[in-house]
Amino acid sequence: LREGGLAGRRAVARWEIQSQEKWEPVFRPALRGEGQIGRPSPFDFPPRRAEGLHPRRRRSPVTRIDALIADMTLAEKIGQLVMVTAGQATTGPVAASDPVALLREGRVGSLLNLWGAAETRAMQRIAVNESRLGIPLFFGFDVIHGHRTIFPIPLGEAAAFDADLWEATARTAAEEASAEGVDLTFAPMLDVCRDPRWGRIAEGPGEDPLVTVRMAEAKVRGFQGDALSDPRSVAATAKHFAAYGAPTAGRDYASVDVSERTLCEVYLPPFEAAVRSGAAAIMPAFNDVAGVPMTAHVPLLRDWLRGRLGFEGVVISDYNAIAELIAHGVADDLAEAASLALTAGVDIDMMSLAYAQGLPEALARGLVTEAQIDASVRRVLVLKERLGLFDDPFRRQSSQAGVVASARRERAREAARRAIVLLKNDGPLLPLARSYERIALVGPLADARSDMLGPWAGAGGPAAAVTILEGLRATLPDCRIDVAADAAALGETDINAAEFVILCLGETARMSGEAASRAEPGLPDDQRALAERVLASGRPAVALLSSGRPLVAPWLFEAASCVLATWFLGTQAGHAIADILFGRADATGRLPVTWPRAIGQIPIFAGQRPSGRPANPKDPYTSTYLDCPVEPQFAFGHGLSFSGIVITGVEAEPGTVRRGGRVTVTVGLDNRGGRGGEETVFLFLRDPVASVARPVLELKDFARIGLAPGDRGVLRFRLDEAAFAFPGSDLEPVVEPGAFEICVGTSADPACLRRVTIRFEG
Ligand code: NOJ
Repeated sequence: LREGGLAGRRAVARWEIQSQEKWEPVFRPALRGEGQIGRPSPFDFPPRRAEGLHPRRRRSPVTRIDALIADMTLAEKIGQLVMVTAGQATTGPVAASDPVALLREGRVGSLLNLWGAAETRAMQRIAVNESRLGIPLFFGFDVIHGHRTIFPIPLGEAAAFDADLWEATARTAAEEASAEGVDLTFAPMLDVCRDPRWGRIAEGPGEDPLVTVRMAEAKVRGFQGDALSDPRSVAATAKHFAAYGAPTAGRDYASVDVSERTLCEVYLPPFEAAVRSGAAAIMPAFNDVAGVPMTAHVPLLRDWLRGRLGFEGVVISDYNAIAELIAHGVADDLAEAASLALTAGVDIDMMSLAYAQGLPEALARGLVTEAQIDASVRRVLVLKERLGLFDDPFRRQSSQAGVVASARRERAREAARRAIVLLKNDGPLLPLARSYERIALVGPLADARSDMLGPWAGAGGPAAAVTILEGLRATLPDCRIDVAADAAALGETDINAAEFVILCLGETARMSGEAASRAEPGLPDDQRALAERVLASGRPAVALLSSGRPLVAPWLFEAASCVLATWFLGTQAGHAIADILFGRADATGRLPVTWPRAIGQIPIFAGQRPSGRPANPKDPYTSTYLDCPVEPQFAFGHGLSFSGIVITGVEAEPGTVRRGGRVTVTVGLDNRGGRGGEETVFLFLRDPVASVARPVLELKDFARIGLAPGDRGVLRFRLDEAAFAFPGSDLEPVVEPGAFEICVGTSADPACLRRVTIRFEG
């Protein structure tokens, strides 16, 4: 394992519930970046700018923050804790209002959903020039998978299993967003999800905690760069804390009930990784966990996040979530809701106005103290300081993005190519030759521009998106391409005259993402009818599945010889799809999520715990279904290539490890195919006997290797002691001596795993 790769395990969580009286919010200096509190900053006394620097901003950071807080009225303090939209995009149920009057009164500290250099500059001018204290705003926006240049949805990007790519796309997004005034993004989304009914599975890295940890590290690095004060960096908000990806029955915003063990093993490590990587902000999830809404979760927010991890950044509520504590059934009115959230450590109220309207009353009732308010205000001001806003409030509204547009497009095309997963390729039908003269493109996604972008396309307008039709036309300029979006158009198309048919099936962009849960995440009936007609024609056909989730469609995988998961690929979708169809690049995407064959199998994932009666189709008293196999349609990690890279051997040395030791796992690979390509190798661990039953497979690392035809190569993985640890009965990490199976393969499918047993001796 890479250095640091297991820290999520090393400091596995156990929250200690401390009494409220014992806990005092302590302000400690920011750990890194310019503008560190208590350290002389070269930017302490910048020249006065034409935009007008308020004299207070010319003091040293610590002095000016103290001085500001001392100067602020209660209304101005609460104002720093209020975030409202300025209305360019609507991302929640509460409508935007005109924030100008509030800005002048110092009653708003940050805005969301506003971007554009001129637009953000206009608002910033009001805040710094027309409010009494001149405190700059920060601007927050959902830059989920790109800002102007749209990359694949995070679930698709996860399929690349490449942390460098994840970081690079975040960097590009940060450069574009910051050039348009965005200081902070509500990303990365770190919700492990094992339920494709939940529409927001599209926004996260899939089912596995380790993949999500790696995504957290890469995205925070990419967004924040080396210093938050860099005008091309944006602050990252790790969200949604915690377990939002496990809502009851897959319904968005529904209750979550997971054990403390599952929290520790699955849902908390990605947030720990984000904090360790320096994420500036955290957003609590909408849901409750076992009856305690995350927006008011004292043990997890205050005691674990702040107390145990030492998180000193800003906690930003989700949209209207503080007021929703009333609907959750834990608060009677806004004053109670506000006091619950503040006490748990939520600094900023996004859009509910519960702080603005409820905190004065909560103070009067003695539910909160002004010291608590001051602590949150301080954290918000420190964030503004770290972002460099006190030194130059307009620093992100004038910068030029660092990468030229064509380089960004190329990066988007590469990311999109690498997100595509070749699920089935009988024949093999792919890659296609470029000699076709007539092909048919059938289905509603054939020329669907905005659907290529996916559910959360930031400021990326559809105009720049390349459709599947356009990608094919660019690749085959001399080929006749007949397009039939639906059954009526298909009636007029001579399918039998086509040498090849490409079915463009799937979801529209709005069928995934927030508030887009589906009880039946499959293909609509009309698409099934369309596909069945085409497949019955006997013409060679390949099916492309655009979606934000695995789609349950066993009939398709049965009937079609060739199927690709193309998710929502972003700006360069059409070109990337053509690159893979015609073999300009190897198919390298691998599933970051287990693909079910029936809705009743959900939740389904590789890291399940063993049963006392493991599935045995010959024995009725085992853990099976009467009406469906237990195996998924496709295992976690599944994905085919055009190359023929195979694992030839797995060795683990030494066979016996002692405390403090490490194991090196060497994996030999050969490319026996006729084309060069790339393979992804997964290393799982299985602890067959432990004081607490361990999952049947636990992902410990993954790596990719590129090999030319006929070439051999080796991948080496290193497992140190922490890799063998798990949360013991007290939820603290423990390593128990005994045998461990190291399982290596190109997916989690048991049929393709090679197993080597080693012993750990204490
Ligand atoms: C609600 C979503 O849950 C969250 O992810 C997003 O950041 C906010 N709205 C702001 O748009």
